[in-house]
Amino acid sequence: MALIDKHVILEKNATLLLIFSLLVVTVGGIVEIAPLFYLENTIEEVEGVRPYSPLELAGRNIYIREGCYVCHSQMIRPMRDEVERYGHYSLAAESMYDHPFQWGSKRTGPDLARVGGRYSDEWHVDHMMDPQSVVPESVMPKYAFLMDNVISAESTYIDEVMATNRFVGVPYTDEQIELAKIDFVSQVDPFADIFDDADGDALLERYPGAQTRNFDGQPEVTEMDALIAYLQVLGTMVDFSTFEPVASR
Ligand code: HEC
Repeated sequence: MALIDKHVILEKNATLLLIFSLLVVTVGGIVEIAPLFYLENTIEEVEGVRPYSPLELAGRNIYIREGCYVCHSQMIRPMRDEVERYGHYSLAAESMYDHPFQWGSKRTGPDLARVGGRYSDEWHVDHMMDPQSVVPESVMPKYAFLMDNVISAESTYIDEVMATNRFVGVPYTDEQIELAKIDFVSQVDPFADIFDDADGDALLERYPGAQTRNFDGQPEVTEMDALIAYLQVLGTMVDFSTFEPVASR
């Protein structure tokens, strides 16, 4: 009897079939999982990706609180239609400081992974206040109340949020956490009274490329400022004019 004919034995004996199936699945599983324990990092590091500034991080929390991820993804797949519509496909490194990541699973609205810089702050304010005023057929709800919610580093517990992020692997330094209160305000108003000797530029040393300006046009720091600061940084950290994936180098 040829070896292949012995397969009949397995096919006719349920218990044996089960045992051998388990064996095969186990081998496959080990081959896939074991190497992960020996790799230091499964994410290719990419220049430009940095942890969120305190204001951006507060905006991210609002994004999560309001359930924006229910209608929006933040993951551009490497397929032609997506790349042509949204830009360069998402890199793993671009969400390495996202805890939890915001890839999402459904697109009622467009992908937001690269929405940063696509619209002006004013557009975002108008759109958040009343989406139908800029896109008449939009089904997005209004978020006008964000304009009225004045926030501070204290009210958002941002230093504690940063410490928690550090706990799960985001490399915030002691200095960044200590100065979170200053950075929070200086991103919106680099000349605020809060600075005695520190100046607004220090924010850019701690968070290179951070955009500093009054995002919603109101004197106070509001949830709208934080959310727009977050939206405007999405997908802008990596310079794709110089980026080359390792595989093609
Ligand atoms: C009920 C689903 C829904 C929810 C929830 C929702 N959106 Fe939207 N969003 C849409 C739809 C649909 C569009 C496309 C039409 C438009 O521009 O309004 C859109 C468009 C957008 C755009 C413009 C994107 C582009 O590239 O044109 C931004 C930015 C945006 N949403 C941000 C948000 C944020 C931030 C939140 C949470 C505070 C949110 N959305 C919640 C459905 C939603």
